Amino acid sequence: MNVKSFKIHIVLLLLCVLLVSCSSSEKKYRIGVSQCSDDIWRDKQNSELKIGAYFHDNVELRFAAAYDSDERQIQQIDSLVATGIDLLIVAPNQVSTISSAIDRAYDQGIPVIVFERKTNSKKYTAYMGADNYEMGHLMGEYVASRLKERGRIIEVMGLKGSSPAIERHNGFREAISQHPNIQVVATLQGDWTEPTAYRIVKQWLDKSRDEGIDLVFGMNDRTAMGARKAFTEAGHGSLPLFCGIDGLPGENGGITLVRDSLLDASYIYPTHGDKLIQLAVDILEGRPYEKETKLMSALVTRDNARVLLMGSEEVMNQSQYIEKLHRTASGYMKQLANQRTLTFLALATIALLLLLLVGIYMYYLQKARIHDERTQMEREQLDFYTQVSHELRTPLTLIEGPLAQLAETPDIKNASSGASDLFAIVRRNTRQLSQLINKMLDAQVGAPKSDMTGEQIDAITAQQEPEIQATDTVPDEEAPTVLIVDDNADIRTYLRTILQGRYRLLEAKDGKLGLEVAREQVPDLIVSDVMMPVMNGLEFCQQVKRDVISSHIPVILLTARALSQHQIEGYQSGADAYITKPFSQELLLVRIDNLLRSRHQLRDLWSSRPVEAENKPEETAPSDTSENQIENAFIARFKKVVEEQMGNSNISVEDLAARMGLSRVQLYRKVKALTGCTPIDLLRKARLAQAQRLLQESTLSVSEIAYKVGFASPSYFTKCYKDEFGTVPGEARKP
Ligand code: FRU
Repeated sequence: MNVKSFKIHIVLLLLCVLLVSCSSSEKKYRIGVSQCSDDIWRDKQNSELKIGAYFHDNVELRFAAAYDSDERQIQQIDSLVATGIDLLIVAPNQVSTISSAIDRAYDQGIPVIVFERKTNSKKYTAYMGADNYEMGHLMGEYVASRLKERGRIIEVMGLKGSSPAIERHNGFREAISQHPNIQVVATLQGDWTEPTAYRIVKQWLDKSRDEGIDLVFGMNDRTAMGARKAFTEAGHGSLPLFCGIDGLPGENGGITLVRDSLLDASYIYPTHGDKLIQLAVDILEGRPYEKETKLMSALVTRDNARVLLMGSEEVMNQSQYIEKLHRTASGYMKQLANQRTLTFLALATIALLLLLLVGIYMYYLQKARIHDERTQMEREQLDFYTQVSHELRTPLTLIEGPLAQLAETPDIKNASSGASDLFAIVRRNTRQLSQLINKMLDAQVGAPKSDMTGEQIDAITAQQEPEIQATDTVPDEEAPTVLIVDDNADIRTYLRTILQGRYRLLEAKDGKLGLEVAREQVPDLIVSDVMMPVMNGLEFCQQVKRDVISSHIPVILLTARALSQHQIEGYQSGADAYITKPFSQELLLVRIDNLLRSRHQLRDLWSSRPVEAENKPEETAPSDTSENQIENAFIARFKKVVEEQMGNSNISVEDLAARMGLSRVQLYRKVKALTGCTPIDLLRKARLAQAQRLLQESTLSVSEIAYKVGFASPSYFTKCYKDEFGTVPGEARKP
């Protein structure tokens, strides 16, 4: 994952969190409710609307009340629409005055439910309300029957131009017209409010002074009560009957007024906010609905007022209970929403942290991979150049070396000046080519390099050491043995030409065979190539140094691997010297000579300590290196064997070797290399040293001592003693 996609992941995550937290708090449907008035009937309806909305948690209500003003209602409808409502419920103040605002909302695609009062426009989605004509008609019938078909009545109208006023009047008058002895004395224009009703009825009474009114029909209960107040104040004998419409429960409600005989009758004008909300949600959610819904209604008289009140009170209690439940539930919902937001935030944080961790992990993974790839590439490159180097340096060695040898031959030395010039050109250019190849390889590898090439190191070393020339003479029996290990036959031949005059030579063409020869023949020194099949020179060198038989043999690694890293590997494998190709033969000879001489310096290993101490190799001199510990242990073991066999005059080298677990040659070469003496010499030295001690510390005779330390005859003992110490045994006895 790169940084860019990582950022995109984070942004997406934050968006998700934002969406989830927003979606939980936002309502889906906003419903505007435009009420023409504000009174107890509207209050009851509004609270029913609210309770109805509780059952739909995707509904939000926005209320507006116009207080019987057309202008205010128009303005309120427009602003409800502007806030972005999804549906409008409207009870229009008058039939024609509000239509323009309702039409505007409808034309914007907002569904409109006209409720309870009507308009003269067809632009509405659904209508819900009671049948006001029928209500007026039934009230007319009731009045006629209540007055027993005879009487004088007053009708106090609702707001002029509002549909219930018109319809109730029509229905009422139609019913009354069927009863010829019922006389409507006056029809007064009210506006649904009690004060207006009181005022106009009072005016009429003051003016007419009519005291024969039997009944007043107010188009709502408040109007009827206003009229009652006017009549009561006028004090015209007995009061007429008062009838109204609305039939609300509760204080000042029509049902209570009927029960208390303040009104004679009322008519329940249904509010049904619950049904209204259901209709709205059905429309919004695309469910089928009735375009015109007629709400049922009922007459309230003294006969049923108490029962109706009880029912209404029960409903009111239930409503309050629902309200309380809703408040509690809302509290829980809020808590839940908060917890949800917190949970999402926590999850988002964890996810972010995880993403961050994954990002960091992947970054480091990528870095490590790149590093590995680079290392691998560098290794391959190095291997390649090492290979190439080997391929180039080997033939170069085989050109340079023989040329050097040829230069020393009489043929070349005595050649004509032209020929020797040509020969010099060849030699010079060969050297130059060799230097160029060295430079090129060192530059191209680009890996950690030594400041000097192997050749430069060799050249410096050669300067510090005495020069030795190759010879053609045949080496004698005592000459050291050198084992050459190289898979290239030409190199072996070339090395032979350099070394054969000085050393006895052994050859092997790979490390495995070299190891076998080294163990069997125990040469004095090994010259080995590094890059060889079967077993390479490094492995070979390690094995040589690990084996007690061959561990003392100096190893010179001769190789084309010129980098300092390669030289380090060579020395780590235990090599005593590392010479890079192409090499100078002088350098090789000097190195061999030096190593053989430094081996000779070890030859006091035998005599450097008393025989008794040799059993404890771990107590060797503190200057001993771990390399020398193998040799020290070997000598200690050998001394022990010699000490045990000292008294045995028939002991042979084979016996001693067998006791050391070696062949005669192995023991001989190993002992000779480490001490400069043969095993038999060492046995004799040990016997003589013991004899000397006995001569000084015991009373045994010379003959007895001679036999005791393993000499076959006392005369031979005396000869050897004199050779070793320069005195005869008897002298050791002198005080
Ligand atoms: C309430 C009200 C009722 C009446 C109805 C007529 O605002 O005045 O009293 O019955 O409106 O629309």
